[in-house]
Amino acid sequence: MCGIVGYVGTRGSVDVLLGGLKRLEYRGYDSAGVAVIDADGHLGTRKHAGKLGILTDDLAAAPLADGHTGIGHTRWATHGGPTDENAHPHLGDDGKLALIHNGIIENFAELKGELLASGHTFHSETDTEVAALLVGDAFRATGDLTAAMLQVVNRLEGAFTLLAVHADQPGVVVGARRNSPLVIGLGEGENFLGSDVAAFVEYTHRAMEIGQDQLVTIRPDSVEVVDFGGAPVAPPTFEVDWDASAAEKGGWSSFMAKEISEEPEAVAKTILGRVTDGLVDLPEVTALGPEVLRSIDRVLIIACGTAAYAGMVGKYAIEQWARIPVDVELAHEFRYREPVLSPNTLVVSISQSGETMDTLMAVKYARERGARTLSICNTQGATIPRESDAVVYTHAGPEVAVASTKAFVAQITATYLLGLQLGQVRGALTDDEARGLVAELQAVPEKLATVLGVGDRIKELAHWMADTRSVLFLGRHVGYPVALEGALKLKELAYIHAEGFAAGELKHGPIALIEPGQVVFVLVPSPRDPRSLHSKVVSNIQEIRARGARVIAIAEEGDVAVLPHADEVIRIPLASPFFEPLLAVVPLHYFGMELASAKGLDVDQPRNLAKSVTVE
Ligand code: G6P
Repeated sequence: MCGIVGYVGTRGSVDVLLGGLKRLEYRGYDSAGVAVIDADGHLGTRKHAGKLGILTDDLAAAPLADGHTGIGHTRWATHGGPTDENAHPHLGDDGKLALIHNGIIENFAELKGELLASGHTFHSETDTEVAALLVGDAFRATGDLTAAMLQVVNRLEGAFTLLAVHADQPGVVVGARRNSPLVIGLGEGENFLGSDVAAFVEYTHRAMEIGQDQLVTIRPDSVEVVDFGGAPVAPPTFEVDWDASAAEKGGWSSFMAKEISEEPEAVAKTILGRVTDGLVDLPEVTALGPEVLRSIDRVLIIACGTAAYAGMVGKYAIEQWARIPVDVELAHEFRYREPVLSPNTLVVSISQSGETMDTLMAVKYARERGARTLSICNTQGATIPRESDAVVYTHAGPEVAVASTKAFVAQITATYLLGLQLGQVRGALTDDEARGLVAELQAVPEKLATVLGVGDRIKELAHWMADTRSVLFLGRHVGYPVALEGALKLKELAYIHAEGFAAGELKHGPIALIEPGQVVFVLVPSPRDPRSLHSKVVSNIQEIRARGARVIAIAEEGDVAVLPHADEVIRIPLASPFFEPLLAVVPLHYFGMELASAKGLDVDQPRNLAKSVTVE
């Protein structure tokens, strides 16, 4: 939520900043702006409401005097609407200081009152301008940007990443972070700051984590980090394990199209290197110690959005394989009651970005109350893994489209690895059982690659349904969270009413929604499943079809029993029940994307959303 980039070095800063913002635009696209200190030591800014392209076109038509120091921002509006005035950067010290911000300054009203009383005027409705004016005043008193920022951050409450530059100190960018993301990119004769590594991966793969309540000063040849008390700290460095091209669209029509096509790879890479002798080998988890792993008496999964649905799928598998009770909670619901936690509770957070504020706060809350915390995360250097006792990274690669796709299958895969590891350590699975399941998981990427072939068929369906105003999704067992995921994709991407239901719940209410022509996607369990869920779901289909529903069934190859009951059948390869969600979700991801395209909507940047929600 809001993307931030900073640069000092020898390159033209405008290009570096715009390149970084382009890769961070998924974080927000209500407005964009840059501030640079030119060769003569003047501060120039340019900012516009709307997507980054408007700013880029304007800078191409009327270039800003460039230099080698600058900051850039792409916004997801919180305080104040998406206008030119509210776009960042905001200015202080009579226009000599520029500052950008990600987060919310909770005590801004009180600080604003103080600034108004001392004669300042405001040009925006943002909370950020308060920080710009305060740092500007502190610079006048101290003559140093680092000292000025240090003074001010200690007065701010809430969540913030702040970056600032001052015309009197060219070659310096100062950043500070509390509860919002900031990563340092380490170059040769140049350094970078970014909300995540995508901001600078084109130039360097060496990065440094910056911790909570820390402040960094970058110059072309130095990086200095201090805590908010001013004491020096030496944060850890890491290598970014993907290339800039991974965050580019390539020849694809959208990032989402590219990312759906990468679902097989996301699963394969998440498994890679984590199987030894046919058994799961997750040192990240076993490092907690066999005693600890055996003493866990409850797993609590916390997440938001798509990640929460991945957690719901994981619940079924972890309970089955490790025989531990598992609950799944939306992170924002978890923290504002008094959940029962103990040292034997393993709290598993799932987050693609590793920055979702609701999830981060839930992890901290759980940790403070003595629970063990493990995060499943897709982003190196992110905050949630740092705040957790252990982390299992998903290796889906950078996900840029706002609506999550490949991260979902990677997250399910990670929960499966966790469930298998716990099952192995606790003796709930025999080695033979575990090996069989691992082999099935390893076979998923190849099967997934064949499911990608349904894309064209789904495109036709979506075009036929471009005017549809409501779609329902039904699933059972692990198909239920997949139904929820299918509905979420339609809401996010196509802006139409969509609901997912557990098929068994249908007759307890939702069936009243069925009227002639209502489109219903049904995830049909395998007829080979001994629990006879197949026949139950086929009965559900008959019930809704009798009332006029138009049924699109997602069913395994060779399931002929479903044919007479469905208007359309989308086929997925044979897999045992736990592995079906990884395959069945692909047509639903395609459907969300294609219906949005058929309606002429922007599939990568849906209205009102941001990929990384770093405010509560
Ligand atoms: C936002 C995004 C969703 C995502 C959710 C959780 O709502 O729009 O696509 O599933 O955040 O994000 P996380 O990064 O924590 O997985």
